Amino acid sequence: MAHAQIKSFVILSLGLLFFLVLWLYIHDDWKGAKPLPRPLQRQPRNQSYRIAINTQTLRSPEASPAPAMNDPGLGAEEWDRIQRTLHWGGPDHQVTTATMSTSPDISTFIINDFKDTYHVGDELHVTIVAKDFTGAPKRYGGDFFQAKVYSDKLKASVFGEVLDHQNGTYLARFTLPWAGEASVAVRMIHSSEAVLVLKQHQNTDPDRIYFYGFFVGKNPQGARVVESVECNVKWDGLVLSTQRNCCCEYQDARTRLTWQCRKPRSLPCDALVDHSAGGYRNRMTAPEKAVMNSKYVDRWLKGDARLLRVNPSIATIVSASNATIGVTVREACKPGLPTPLPAGFYLMDVWTSFVCGARHFTAIDTAKCLKDKHIYIMGDSTSRQWFDFLIQTVPTLKRMNLHTSAQAGPLLAVDTQNNIDLHWRSHGLPLRTTKTSMSALHYVSNEIDDMVGGPHAVIVFNMWAHFTNYPLTFFAYNVFLIRRAVVALLRRAPGTKVVIKTANTGYKDIFGSDWFSMQLDRILREAFRDVEVYILDVWQMTACHYSRDNIHPPPVVIKNEIDILLSFMCPQ
Ligand SMILES: *[C@@H]1O[C@H](CO)[C@@H](O)[C@H](O)[C@H]1NC(C)=O
Ligand SMILES: *[C@@H]1O[C@H](CO)[C@@H](O)[C@H](O)[C@H]1NC(C)=O
Ligand SMILES: *[C@@H]1O[C@H](CO)[C@@H](O)[C@H](O)[C@H]1NC(C)=O
Repeated sequence: MAHAQIKSFVILSLGLLFFLVLWLYIHDDWKGAKPLPRPLQRQPRNQSYRIAINTQTLRSPEASPAPAMNDPGLGAEEWDRIQRTLHWGGPDHQVTTATMSTSPDISTFIINDFKDTYHVGDELHVTIVAKDFTGAPKRYGGDFFQAKVYSDKLKASVFGEVLDHQNGTYLARFTLPWAGEASVAVRMIHSSEAVLVLKQHQNTDPDRIYFYGFFVGKNPQGARVVESVECNVKWDGLVLSTQRNCCCEYQDARTRLTWQCRKPRSLPCDALVDHSAGGYRNRMTAPEKAVMNSKYVDRWLKGDARLLRVNPSIATIVSASNATIGVTVREACKPGLPTPLPAGFYLMDVWTSFVCGARHFTAIDTAKCLKDKHIYIMGDSTSRQWFDFLIQTVPTLKRMNLHTSAQAGPLLAVDTQNNIDLHWRSHGLPLRTTKTSMSALHYVSNEIDDMVGGPHAVIVFNMWAHFTNYPLTFFAYNVFLIRRAVVALLRRAPGTKVVIKTANTGYKDIFGSDWFSMQLDRILREAFRDVEVYILDVWQMTACHYSRDNIHPPPVVIKNEIDILLSFMCPQ
């Protein structure tokens, strides 16, 4: 090699080294990964501490892709508390024949201490007795029941709390909130044996729902090539392929959430452009399918059909035209209020909230309430129903055509007369959607981090239906990222209103079930317990309404949800 060549090679190398060091310095990466800042006073991270729900089904620590991903800034104590709220009893081994599982046809319920008359505000206790298909009483708990007191004539209903005695009997507890007649109804969503199946698939079978990534580029002849491959989240226990170099990984710098796709045949990893839902894989074994059979899912029990006669209490009169309620003290709607049980009730299809003094809004009141507001809704199709409902209600609020995906957004409506802008976008990956640009999928926590907030800003989010097939730690991590972002937002812009829409009922199978939804919902509520946000409970509103359970509740339910949302935004 010529002397001059060696010299220029050395200069070039030194130059490259200099820029490399400079780049590393600027990007701070040479110090190693920065720990996630903690939004609240949390305990320092403990090396030996890892989030684990079901240690026996989680993989060993060596299989963990990145231990830091499992530390979303929550203390061990807080995580313990959350895990306690997730506790669910049941059989300790798999039942292999449906005969031994709880039968919705034979299980029954009885009203305790039945009285000739009741008064508004009285508590009512109902005992549920679970039996298997042979008629033998069950000896363990874990059946997933939902109970309500209702009147078809009055279009009235209230959700009941079900306590599991862990011995095959359950106590359903109600408060009677309206005067008139009422009946009790109990349904079995899943037998305890079916819940065990759900539990087992929760941690071992996360890619039972999968996605496609679309890579776009050119072949050597210059023609356009599109290659699609399977994609999913990267998390403990989710392996797209055991082959080395199988996959492309896309880590979001701020959340450190990683999306992975199998490598396309010819195109490079950075050619990923679009995303869409993929499909479903049912990996249930034959005995599992037997106890999850839809014949035994979401079935009303035959039980005590005696009619309850409820008189007005001395202090209050509750009627369809006069929704004064004396059962609880009604506070003005403000952040940080807990969800009581019951959270409210329907009467003539109008929901009266026990959380706070919610109002009922006409179209004109709705426009007045939205005036001068910037409303950012992020979530799934159930919060998109709110976006659509508001546009239908306020005639001056016009939807813009942004030429984006109807299912993933972003969507926008504006009202220049009242100075309203209403936004909706999906909560980002994972999302089952028609084909949409990867660039349109933003994580909620990143979106919130980029918001200024302030007294005119209302931020609404919901998240659960697209997370039911993953280990709970994955959902928890996402929730804690959002919590961190919300806490920071409320610190820099204290007047901002943050509303969280809870899960609603709807799904009943191995891919999504109310039982999964309930678990995710508990994580969400616990995580935001000490944060000044409004938790808008729609779980009870959907579980006790007479309309057929649907992941997308009917307009009458949405109207009542929106009334509470608006009551949070405009308490007087
Ligand atoms: C960390 O974990 C170890 C072992 O479980 C425990 O002895 C120690 O007290 C923990 N430290 C903190 C700060 O929680
Ligand atoms: C189940 O437990 C409850 C509460 O401890 C008790 O009242 C009830 O008698 C028990 N029932 C049976 C069948 O053991
Ligand atoms: C509502 O009830 C109160 C008594 O609690 C009564 O004074 C009032 O007139 C009622 N209003 C309507 C609209 O029925």
